[in-house]
Amino acid sequence: MLLTNSTSTDVIIGISTIAIIIYLYVKHQYSYWKRLGVPQLKPTFPLGNYQFALPKGLQMGAYTDHYYRAFKKMGAPYGGVYIGLTPNLVITDADVAKTILVNDFNNFTDRNMYSSKHQPLSVNLLSQKGDEWKSSRAKFTALFTTSKLKLFIDFASQGKQDLITYLDHFADGKKDVAIHQVTSLFVADIISMILFGINANSFNSENTDFKNFGRAVFDSFTPLFQLKLLMTHCYPKLAQFLGIGNLQKEIEDFGNAYVPKAVEYRMKNNVRGTDFLQLLIDAKEAGMDLTMDEMVSQSFIFMSGGLETSSSSSMIALYELAKNEEYQTKVREEIYRIKEKYEGKTSYDSLMEHTYLQQVLSEVLRLYPLITNVYRVCVQDYTMQGRDLVIEKGTPVIFPLIGFHRDPDYFPEPLKFDPSRFDDKNNKHKGYFPFGAGPRNCVAARLGIIQSKLAIVAIIENYEISLSPKTPEALELVENTFTLSFKNDIYLKLKKIQK
Ligand code: HEM
Repeated sequence: MLLTNSTSTDVIIGISTIAIIIYLYVKHQYSYWKRLGVPQLKPTFPLGNYQFALPKGLQMGAYTDHYYRAFKKMGAPYGGVYIGLTPNLVITDADVAKTILVNDFNNFTDRNMYSSKHQPLSVNLLSQKGDEWKSSRAKFTALFTTSKLKLFIDFASQGKQDLITYLDHFADGKKDVAIHQVTSLFVADIISMILFGINANSFNSENTDFKNFGRAVFDSFTPLFQLKLLMTHCYPKLAQFLGIGNLQKEIEDFGNAYVPKAVEYRMKNNVRGTDFLQLLIDAKEAGMDLTMDEMVSQSFIFMSGGLETSSSSSMIALYELAKNEEYQTKVREEIYRIKEKYEGKTSYDSLMEHTYLQQVLSEVLRLYPLITNVYRVCVQDYTMQGRDLVIEKGTPVIFPLIGFHRDPDYFPEPLKFDPSRFDDKNNKHKGYFPFGAGPRNCVAARLGIIQSKLAIVAIIENYEISLSPKTPEALELVENTFTLSFKNDIYLKLKKIQK
């Protein structure tokens, strides 16, 4: 039916009406926080408060740090932003963070990680919700008990000799070693053993699958892939409708090629392992409804969660130790003392005694929280006691870790690397969440620390390390990866310690 007797006039009226409706809707949506009396940053359609990350990329930590600072400046314990059109709450107060993550966790059990049925690999512990997450979490927690970790350390210690043999090529002080490459290979060997019971043999092979997997997760951010990420982040429902995925093809190929074959082989030949894969197989054989896609997907998240975090934290620790001789000497003295006590054997108990090294790692994770944000979603309407704050069901909540960890209110002189901040065991370190907090914290935090300690102990025990002139004085962040990573390779000089 025509409104006027001119088709073109009708089209113009139609388009204008739609534009006005969209305008009013967007205006209404972008005043959500104001209406609730929560301070907000000024959004711009269509990306809300997200657009300033473009065209540089998607460094999650960098833009949420910007939010954190803006709300802190206002003196607000929390504030509102918009990702696309969705209102997100940003927390800037450590007590409020603890209340949500720990005390009132039952109202915030989920994380708003994108997953799509078109990409089965995206459904995993990180993205699962509600009861589905609870049941997976209970199962995988069983993989990281102290007794299992003790077994893993025995596997992992086997990789130490490969590491030393490799590093000896650099030990005359003439060639510099790109240290991140080394810690990545070492951690890839450990993780592949723990997850799949196989020796990835990363130091002896030029192009291993595991190495490529690590690269795919964190390095291959093409413009098209970034665009997909942007869609899934800002307009997840539309992305889901359009079947857009947020995983690189190399990752799907790796998981689909490797895991089904390994599962089939073990089931057919009745071969057992003491690894993650066996846990999945046992659960399936005990009648759990676990598809192959789910097995692949859970393996994927444990591999990606474990590889880059541990290898980067050891790399940064080595960088800081190379910069500061006093810290390095203290770590080495501790290593020699513990080595003597345990007659040269590395074990779970011996690693737990490296308290100064633990302080160094805690400080690394403070200054460089490798997972830069913790996320939750409110799952039922929530009023926080003692605060004038109502969070509606469905609201995503962001905890910016770089913001907290570099906030002078919590850490005086925040940019200074100083392990002595952690020498008082009784200090609870308010505002410190490198592994998240509460029941949905990092499921493998202890393993992460153990992997990093193993790499550092092996290197500091055998080599004096110093910075190469090629190494930058300050670490510059890359803006297009999820985790914290750095622009320049870090080169060290090694000098073998004669014993
Ligand atoms: C230094 C090393 C590591 C750091 C800094 C780290 C950090 C984190 C953080 C901040 C979270 C989010 C926690 C939250 O939302 O409260 C997380 C979750 C997770 N991490 Fe780690 N992580 C590390 C090592 C590992 C390792 C070695 C693995 C596996 C082998 C792993 C697997 C996971 C998984 C599966 C989750 C999701 C847990 C859930 O939702 O139930 N992480 N990690």
